[in-house]
Amino acid sequence: MKSLITILLIVFSLAFISCSDKTERNYQYFPNMYVSVPYDTYGEYEIFPEEQEALTVVEGSIPRGFTPYEYEDNTEGYTKAKEELKNEVPYTEENLATGKELYNIYCATCHGENGNGKGYLVEREKILGVPSYDDQGRAITEGSVYHVMWHGINTMGSYASQMNSEELWLVDHYVMKLKAELEGKEPREFETESE
Ligand code: HEC
Repeated sequence: MKSLITILLIVFSLAFISCSDKTERNYQYFPNMYVSVPYDTYGEYEIFPEEQEALTVVEGSIPRGFTPYEYEDNTEGYTKAKEELKNEVPYTEENLATGKELYNIYCATCHGENGNGKGYLVEREKILGVPSYDDQGRAITEGSVYHVMWHGINTMGSYASQMNSEELWLVDHYVMKLKAELEGKEPREFETESE
C-alpha cells in the first residue's frame, strides 16, 4: 500500500512538473522570498499620494533618542547659552571618568590632555589658535562649552553627531574640571547620585 502511494505521488509530481509551459512564468513557492514584504525604494504603491513609497518627514519631527538644542548658532545664542544653560547631569566620580574618556578621544588631540590648548595636532602645527580652557578673554562656562560642542566654533567642528547630549554633558563636566585645575582652584566635590 505504501509503495503504491509513493508511486502515485511520483507520477503525479512528474506530470505536474513536466507539463509546465516554459514560456509562462512558473509558480512561485514561498513568494515572499522573491517579493519583499516592505515597500521597495522608488516602487509605486497606493499608500501615499502620486504612488510614492515614502514621504519626507514632517517639519519639526524629532528623531528617536535625539534631544533638540534650542540655542541658535550665532553670537546671541552663544551669549545666552553661556549665561543660562546649566549641566543637569550629576557630577559624580563615575560620570567624570566617562567624560574624561570621551574628552581624550574627541578633544585632547587639539586641546591637550590637561586642556592647555597644546594637543598633539597643535604641537605638530597642524592647527592653530586652540585656546587654553583658562583663557580669561573667553571665560568659558558649562553653557558655552555645550554650545560650542553642539554648533562648533570657527575652525572647531561640531560634535553633535559624534556624541548624544548626555555624553556631551559628561565631556562638559570634564572640561570644567580641567579649567578649574588650570586656574589652580580647589576641585569640585562629587555629588552622590540619589535614586
Ligand atoms: C581640530 C581641533 C579641535 C578639536 C578636536 C576640538 N577643538 Fe575645541 N577649539 C578648537 C579651536 C581651533 C578653537 C578656537 C576657535 C575660535 O574661537 O577661533 C576651539 C575652541 C574651543 C572652546 C572655547 C570656545 C569659546 O567659547 O570661545 C571650547 C570650550 C572647546 N573648544 C571645547 C572643545 C571640546 C569639549 C572638544 C571635544 C568635544 C573640542 N573642543 C575639540 C579646536 C578643536
